[in-house]
Amino acid sequence: MLYPEHVIEEIREQSDIISIISEYTALNKKGSSYVGLCPFHNEKTPSFSVSEDKQLYYCFGCGAGGNVITFLMQKENMTFIEAIKYLAERENIKLDETYLSNEEVENNKKRGLLLEILTESARYFHYSLRAPENEEALHYLTSRGLTMETIKHFGLGYATHQFNDLYEYLKQKGYSDQLLLESGLFLQSKQNQNRLYDRFAGRVIYPIFDLSKKVIAFGGRVLDGSMPKYLNSPENILFNKSRNLYGMHLAKNSGASYFILVEGYMDVIAMHQAGFTQTVASLGTAFTPGHAKLLKRHAKEVVILYDSDGAGQKAALRAIPILRSEGLKVKVLLLQEGKDPDEYLKTHGYESMKNLLEGAPSDLWFQIRTIEKKYDLKIPEEKVKFLQEIAGLLADTSSSIEQAIYLKEISKTYEIDEEAFKAEMNRYYQQGKRKVAMKVEAVSPHQKKQVFNNEVIFLANLYHYPNLARHVQSYLKPEFFEQGLLYDLAKAILESLRTGEEIDMTYFTTHYPEVNEQNIISHVLIHKDQRYEDIALLQKMMTENVKRLNKIYIERRLKETTDISEVQNLLFQKKELDRLNIDYING
Ligand code: UTP
Ligand code: MN
Repeated sequence: MLYPEHVIEEIREQSDIISIISEYTALNKKGSSYVGLCPFHNEKTPSFSVSEDKQLYYCFGCGAGGNVITFLMQKENMTFIEAIKYLAERENIKLDETYLSNEEVENNKKRGLLLEILTESARYFHYSLRAPENEEALHYLTSRGLTMETIKHFGLGYATHQFNDLYEYLKQKGYSDQLLLESGLFLQSKQNQNRLYDRFAGRVIYPIFDLSKKVIAFGGRVLDGSMPKYLNSPENILFNKSRNLYGMHLAKNSGASYFILVEGYMDVIAMHQAGFTQTVASLGTAFTPGHAKLLKRHAKEVVILYDSDGAGQKAALRAIPILRSEGLKVKVLLLQEGKDPDEYLKTHGYESMKNLLEGAPSDLWFQIRTIEKKYDLKIPEEKVKFLQEIAGLLADTSSSIEQAIYLKEISKTYEIDEEAFKAEMNRYYQQGKRKVAMKVEAVSPHQKKQVFNNEVIFLANLYHYPNLARHVQSYLKPEFFEQGLLYDLAKAILESLRTGEEIDMTYFTTHYPEVNEQNIISHVLIHKDQRYEDIALLQKMMTENVKRLNKIYIERRLKETTDISEVQNLLFQKKELDRLNIDYING
């Protein structure tokens, strides 16, 4: 582990889980805990609960649960270390470098140097763009309609044709070849003694910024029609394509209620220049859940604005479920053939674009229209197939409220009977293709409801119903549970039943930092299963589990042990077990 336990514990203890989670969902105090709408799945009635004294959260709807650290890991896509650092910064806790391993110290140093190199390079490229001898490059950008102000705003630059220009400049500042290679700015020449040369030579440069406006990578475009049109920095310790969006450093502060997602660098820049400062692009890669999470942090709605060609349409269809599963509202706008937003703005301007954006169809309508193109609706058989396919789409992806709305619109648009369409959707469910019942709020596909095994549920009952659990604890041993987390939980719960003392959360935070481990911990310590308010049912459940776990344990030991007296003992216990009758009243 990177930081010692006491540091992690200090951070966890000082971080107010209530105020952090409140940034994602409104919480109301109810009894000893806080409740609200679950930030991990779509719901209309609150089933998400946060315990202030245990410093844990748990959703009774989807089963998401954990502590403040795993919350950030799940919600913000952070690693454990990133979450710790984020919280430390938030709470003004100084993370002393002496806590870091040598490797971590090295990595931090390298990260700092790489950032320096990229900043220096961005400045150098920008300076080159404005040098009189390179007016061709500047002219290229201005002829594409960019103003000087925009060029500065996005820090655009130019890498000259001299392949060693930037190299010499950085070398003279003292950076090592190895570091320069890792910066992603250079390639190594095979012919020429492994010399480094500028990857981007002869290209217009688009710096890529992280959220704190530090340059972490570059894109470079040729000035003519040669190929490849764009080059991008390779991924390294600074740059992760699936977690960065071009333009996000500006778009996140735009104050707009929705983001606009476009395909290219030039589209982002042209859109910002025109006034759509909420525009971002994924960087020459497919749109990922990491991108969706990033967007979700700052807005609830996204308009996809891609080219109308086949590739753009396909990319839109792929992005929709990813955005939806983060709970974002999605609209899709494809411009007419051959036009990208940059070109469209040049000919039609801001107002026209704004109208298109505001009138953009929902993702569902976009999907319905796409499906429609596959069929000739004048032919009855084809129309039936079309309706079956969209019935499947609706049944599959939308909430019951959406279904009700779309039902009306679809029947009007395609002139079909509402009841007939509803029947088709129901048939789709009954075929057993989808388990989600119509009236049940669908948990988004990426947030499947957690399933916990018997042991976890049993431990939760032991913890939440101590009065009955006291009668069975003498029949239980931590060894009955899987080595590791379940063993430790059982041990802590049995001990707490004996002594009446609360469980030491510190131990569980530091020994089980993983998201899935914290999920189990919060399930056991927070999820009081209401079904077991029925005492008879609870007694039955406990007795069955005591017998089952004893039996498994005895059989396992019988296989393992070579000690005759233990064997005899186990056989005796086995016989006793059949006769075991737990007295929950006097026992
Ligand atoms: P486009 O070709 O649509 O880019 O590719 P664009 O921004 O409209 O380019 P202009 O208007 O011709 O200058 C969309 C995005 O795909 C990535 C880039 O991020 C580009 O902005 N791409 C494209 C590459 O990474 N490499 C390529 O060779 C082409
Ligand atoms: Mn373009």
